Amino acid sequence: MRWIESPALPALEEHFEDMADLHMRALFEKEPDRFQRFSLRVGGILLDYSKNRITRETLPLLCEVARTVGLERRRDAMFSGEKINKTEGRSVLHVALRRRCDEPILVDGKNVLPGIRRVLERMGEFASKVRSGAWKGFTGSPITDVVNIGIGGSDLGPQMVVEALKAYSSPDIRVHFVSNVDGTHLAETLRNLEPSTTLFVVTSKSFTTLETMTNARTAREWFLEASTSASDVARHFVAVSTNGPAVAEFGIDTANMFEFWDWVGGRFSLWSAVGLSIALAIGMERFEEFLEGAYLMDEHFRQAPFEANMPVILGLLGFWYVNFFGATDHVVVPYDQYLHRFPAYLQQLDMESNGKRVDEAGQPVSYHTGPMVWGEPGTNGQHAFFQLLHQGTEFAPVDFIIPANSLNPLRNHHHILLANCFAQSEALMRGKTVDEAAHELESSGAPPAVVAALAPHKEFPGNRPSNTLLLEKVTPKTLGSLLALYEHKIFVQGVLWGIDSFDQWGVQLGKELAQLLLPEIEGRSRGGPHDASTAGLLAACQEMRKRERQR
Ligand code: F6P
Repeated sequence: MRWIESPALPALEEHFEDMADLHMRALFEKEPDRFQRFSLRVGGILLDYSKNRITRETLPLLCEVARTVGLERRRDAMFSGEKINKTEGRSVLHVALRRRCDEPILVDGKNVLPGIRRVLERMGEFASKVRSGAWKGFTGSPITDVVNIGIGGSDLGPQMVVEALKAYSSPDIRVHFVSNVDGTHLAETLRNLEPSTTLFVVTSKSFTTLETMTNARTAREWFLEASTSASDVARHFVAVSTNGPAVAEFGIDTANMFEFWDWVGGRFSLWSAVGLSIALAIGMERFEEFLEGAYLMDEHFRQAPFEANMPVILGLLGFWYVNFFGATDHVVVPYDQYLHRFPAYLQQLDMESNGKRVDEAGQPVSYHTGPMVWGEPGTNGQHAFFQLLHQGTEFAPVDFIIPANSLNPLRNHHHILLANCFAQSEALMRGKTVDEAAHELESSGAPPAVVAALAPHKEFPGNRPSNTLLLEKVTPKTLGSLLALYEHKIFVQGVLWGIDSFDQWGVQLGKELAQLLLPEIEGRSRGGPHDASTAGLLAACQEMRKRERQR
């Protein structure tokens, strides 16, 4: 077991002793310039991190830790194509997918940029054919509905972006996402679709994922029931994958396959051909703007000094709360209905990356790593879990995300939204003392006994940190920057914790056990070596299914 090895840690630990009991209210009173000091802009995003438990000494000390653990070297290694995903022996090059300049990136001595550009070009040609109606279904009608079949990174990212950029989408093409192997997901999606005008995009890096292949096979059966010949499949099924042979075996012509590469991690793949459903929804020009926004953040991350580097600052603040203040959760609240899938996307991005308990050398770590990430759009979250954020015994830093300008400026809705968002971060920071609560009750005429009984319930401890990301507007470009910001924040934290943020071995065991259980569920075998709970559940389930069959 080891604690992070950094000669800069003792100074930070000492500083923490001074900070642990300081209240942000007092800090704001003492430092009226906190906003100027602790905010910065990159492209269309302003980050206000002044409502954090930091002073002007904190960030330099945190940055020193980042320097001493080799963040600069690791960052440069990622951008130059080094195989930093050690346990899988792979480069980590989602940043190459959005590189706008021609500076080559080599993997095994080969520049990856020409291949990336070729696929982008093919995506553009295909998207414009489908969007213009030039790509016809088997009856000669244009495509009206696209169904992306994928799961995890082959679903969450593209789905979130298609939702986020709905205002920029073509009204002539509806894009649907099917991920769950629960037949209900596919059945409900197909219920109102016409096979002759539906295009399936089967998206899977491995092209072996059980859920995706099961859904894809059932979709193909549904399609073949309506079509006139098996050759019609070519006009209605395309694939996005790294696995050409498996695509061909499934029956999709590899001419209709959009490739990507093993150095693109699933949860980072929306910038690759996995973004085909995005391009079909918003068009290739806007998809390119989306890539441009990410590139802007990449360049900022590569070049800005740590003290003025947005992803580094966010990463270090998270580290500060997890490893010094003991925060186990991180909450994200987008005040934008278009971003309603953002928390789900971020869960995979962060938790699959940094939910690790051994370091790169396989040694157990003695400190906490990735927090549990969750959230809901504001203002809905306010009427659900904010009670705990304000007055619970748990403490969780919050990221508020809000555009200054709405894409749907109905009456004063957006003013109310902005007021609520800013009010929540202010309330979390300031809190309300028991004296203030008592004073309010007294002023409203409450008798002393009521004041004494209620005041403790109306007290808010405050001193609960948050970041606010104020976007000029949700556009393809600002969204690209926002997603790249979080990707790099997560990378920074992985480096601090010394873990491999790019593998995901933790998803394997459940998959293996499911494969063993399936024949028993299907009655093809019995009596596997299970614990009493699993065996009991299997038996009870078989009995309930038998009763249902007999009804
Ligand atoms: O099970 C986890 C995972 O491997 C994710 O990392 C990945 O995004 C998802 O499954 C889907 O994988 P694929 O794209 O290969 O179907």
